[in-house]
Amino acid sequence: MRILKKKSWELPESAVTSEQDFINRRRFLKAVGLGSGALLGQSIAHAATSGFPSPLNSAYKLEDLEPTPYDLIKGYNNFYEFTTDKGDVQKLANQGWQSEPWEIEIGGLVDKPMKLDVNDCISKVGGIEQRVYRMRCVEAWSMVIPWDGFQLSKLIDLVQPNAKAKYVKFTSFYDPKSAPGQKSGSIDWPYVEGLTIAEARNELTLLATGIYGKPIPNQNGAPIRLVVPWKYGFKGIKSISKIEFVSKPPLNTWKALQSREYGFYANVNPEVDHPRWSQASERVIGSGFFSSRKDTLMFNGYAEQVASLYEGLDLRRNF
Ligand code: MTE
Repeated sequence: MRILKKKSWELPESAVTSEQDFINRRRFLKAVGLGSGALLGQSIAHAATSGFPSPLNSAYKLEDLEPTPYDLIKGYNNFYEFTTDKGDVQKLANQGWQSEPWEIEIGGLVDKPMKLDVNDCISKVGGIEQRVYRMRCVEAWSMVIPWDGFQLSKLIDLVQPNAKAKYVKFTSFYDPKSAPGQKSGSIDWPYVEGLTIAEARNELTLLATGIYGKPIPNQNGAPIRLVVPWKYGFKGIKSISKIEFVSKPPLNTWKALQSREYGFYANVNPEVDHPRWSQASERVIGSGFFSSRKDTLMFNGYAEQVASLYEGLDLRRNF
């Protein structure tokens, strides 16, 4: 892998643009008459428009938590294909990168491979629904996000993996002409992620095509991205163009960058610190001027649904 620029994953958590810096900068731009619309001068393209408004699935609504404000969800982003600056992703992801139309290819060790437009994919799985999930980034901040999407297991049932398929590999797009971050050699593009088949089939695992009942904005991974709420946010690969069923664990992007710090499983675990910071608590994005912290929960609060997937596995070694 070519390392041409400063390695952003070596930044301490405290050095990552804080939410307050981000909000202050937006306030300043507003005050001088450069609100985001004027500043960007863009029309926002959305790809997967099928299925809205989607019905709320009341089994996943998180009674005790307020969803993070929409402006923060779509304005405070990690999307390295565009930039490592969280506050600038929104601008750069809407300056010419086309997330519409969008084909997705599903193949590998399956009986019924397919290549289809993302809207056709939504129809084939029977539409979308809304679920409110916690999201915990490995950088120790968190949000609560109302996603629209469909359970990945529905798509798995359609393509019918064979007995040799043990893992699912997800690959994002590669388009350095419109994604400026891909011109740098610091990451071996395209972005790749992986799950075991059992994780991929878990009831919680979603392919999201919307947020807050609207098509997913480019900066959040239009038109379709993965959501695995018991894992750190980096597992949630954005803008997926290929899904392959494979026999060996795929080498995911962050593990390839720094395998001592980021693993394949990446389950949220307050007892296993990142080598450079604690994972015991998290900064709650949107919780006021001085974002408050709260304790991080094992499997991000989803132990009941997923702990059985890891029985007998040493979670310190398999981090
Ligand atoms: N997917 C792609 N293709 N590229 C990325 O840089 N960043 C990951 C993940 N998915 C990333 C990605 C990281 S580190 C996080 S925390 C989440 O997306 C952020 O999602 P959000 O911007 O919608 O909050």
